[in-house]
Amino acid sequence: MCGIVGYTGVHEASPVLVAGLRRLEYRGYDSAGVAIVSEGRVVVRKRAGRVRTLEEALDQEPAAGSCGISHTRWATHGPANDRNAHPHMGGRAGAGAVAVVHNGVIENHATLRAELTADGFTFLSQTDTEVIAHLIARELGDGDGLFQAVQRALPQLEGTYGLAVISARCPGQVIGARLGSPLVIGLGEGEHFLASDALAIAPHTAKVAYLQDGEVVRLGPDDFEIRHRERGSITPRIDRIDWKPDAVELGGHAHYMLKEIHEQPETVHDACRGRLRHAEATAHFGGLNMTPRQLRRVRRVVFAACGTSWHAALVGEYLIERLAHLPVEVEYASEFRYRNAPLDDRTLVFVLSQSGETADTLGALRESKRQGHPTLAIVNTVGSTIAREATGGIFLHCGPEVGVASTKAFTAQVAVLTLLAIHLGRLRHLSFTDGLAAIEAIESIPRALGDVLAKSEPAIRAAAERIAPAKSVLYLGRDLHFPVALEGALKLKEISYIHAEGYPTAEMKHGPIALVDRETPCVFVAPRGVLHAKTLSNVEEVRARHGTIIAVGTEGDESLESISDIFLPIPDVPEIVQPLLAVVPLQLLAYQVALLRGCDIDKPRNLAKSVTVE
Ligand code: F6R
Repeated sequence: MCGIVGYTGVHEASPVLVAGLRRLEYRGYDSAGVAIVSEGRVVVRKRAGRVRTLEEALDQEPAAGSCGISHTRWATHGPANDRNAHPHMGGRAGAGAVAVVHNGVIENHATLRAELTADGFTFLSQTDTEVIAHLIARELGDGDGLFQAVQRALPQLEGTYGLAVISARCPGQVIGARLGSPLVIGLGEGEHFLASDALAIAPHTAKVAYLQDGEVVRLGPDDFEIRHRERGSITPRIDRIDWKPDAVELGGHAHYMLKEIHEQPETVHDACRGRLRHAEATAHFGGLNMTPRQLRRVRRVVFAACGTSWHAALVGEYLIERLAHLPVEVEYASEFRYRNAPLDDRTLVFVLSQSGETADTLGALRESKRQGHPTLAIVNTVGSTIAREATGGIFLHCGPEVGVASTKAFTAQVAVLTLLAIHLGRLRHLSFTDGLAAIEAIESIPRALGDVLAKSEPAIRAAAERIAPAKSVLYLGRDLHFPVALEGALKLKEISYIHAEGYPTAEMKHGPIALVDRETPCVFVAPRGVLHAKTLSNVEEVRARHGTIIAVGTEGDESLESISDIFLPIPDVPEIVQPLLAVVPLQLLAYQVALLRGCDIDKPRNLAKSVTVE
């Protein structure tokens, strides 16, 4: 949440900062702003609304200079308006003033505000961030440099922050600091960058260093230094970004969400690549950092995650119980971290996260580690905090996901969890024949995904027309498809703002069936499987009450098609891999409904992609 970009070098800062913000706009789009050191003072331009509004302001009133910071906001304290937009200035106007951009939450802001006000500082915004700017300005005083002033100010803050700071007193310097909110440094020739996410700086350099909690960095055009609040001077590890900058271009698609839906044949393939062992009828992971013997000792698995990642984990529960006969619990990370969940040394804990930065999931990881459990992560973003802090894990390899509504990360997570279930199963009782069949099933998925994407459009449009006017939609699925129903409902809510509920199909008769009428469409996720006949009866129950039925089913399933108003077919594949296909029509359906309703698909209201606050 909130995107930060900083630049110091030989080029004009403003275009670099604004282009960086455009790439980070998925982190929040309530307001955007830049601050640039220009002819001995700090110039600020900031506007409520999107980055394009800021660009218009900069066209009218340019800000020249080669050192600056910028921010795109997801509002926490104070509504989205020009005044609350970052950067915030601290101190008295003039050469001593500092400008700050911030991602995170300062929990003791009210106390600090009172103290600073008594000390003569004037507050112009309702944000928690403005206290940071004044604190740093006070520390800067007439004394030494900005780097030292920031280091003196930080211990006074309680909460989380990723910060970028500049001052006209120290032209050419950008100071960054991190505690709980991500920051990465980009290393160029005669220029350095700072950002919340490597996406922002990928067009300029592939060489990056991730800041750790408690670290403060001073960037100059030609050098940089990092200090840790306890450990002193730090030599960082330099990493290389392993994806191309054009991975985050739209590539001819109208929206990132659509682009990412269409990438799924490739991303599921990439998630499985190099992990299938036909000769042993199993899957293999390089990074679990656990021996087969240790994995065989496991008696219980706990998954902690949020949102779509939580839904993927729920598919994992069904798969692991089915293939490995291990009990699995799926926890909301935000609950798990504060609950006294009993874990013992035969419980294996996994956290799942696309971004690797979700604050609640990171909290769950830290809580589990604090209790002394090795804690593994299933994560997409290499270099993210969760990836770095986990004791081992599995990368999704599905490339940067920019669309705020997660799509390709879900299928990559489910693919990886299917492989994990096979792996854990083969360490127990899963036979060679069943293991091999499972591997062959998942190998067939990329092509089958291609078929779904190529063929489903007309039926999905028809279904979208039925759903677009609805006030509420029920999504129903059972067994492996219950989590798919939850995910379908979440996609619709997020981007079209229609109320939707996911429910286990057979639970419907215990309450939600009261909602069924001519105006409430029901989306059944019902590919052929062991419980199919029972699902057909549930569909009939809705039909008898005049509900509109949209069904995702197996190609050629006339029994389901004949009782559905709209039938969305998927290829006939073994049950354990059906969720990978069944979710795709639901992603496309949510997309088409949002399009019909004129919603802003890649920037849904109130949401941001990487939820780095609690
Ligand atoms: C839904 C969505 C969110 C995320 C959730 C967890 O489309 O994007 O529900 O799934 O915020 O995010 P990660 O996986 O990055 O931890």
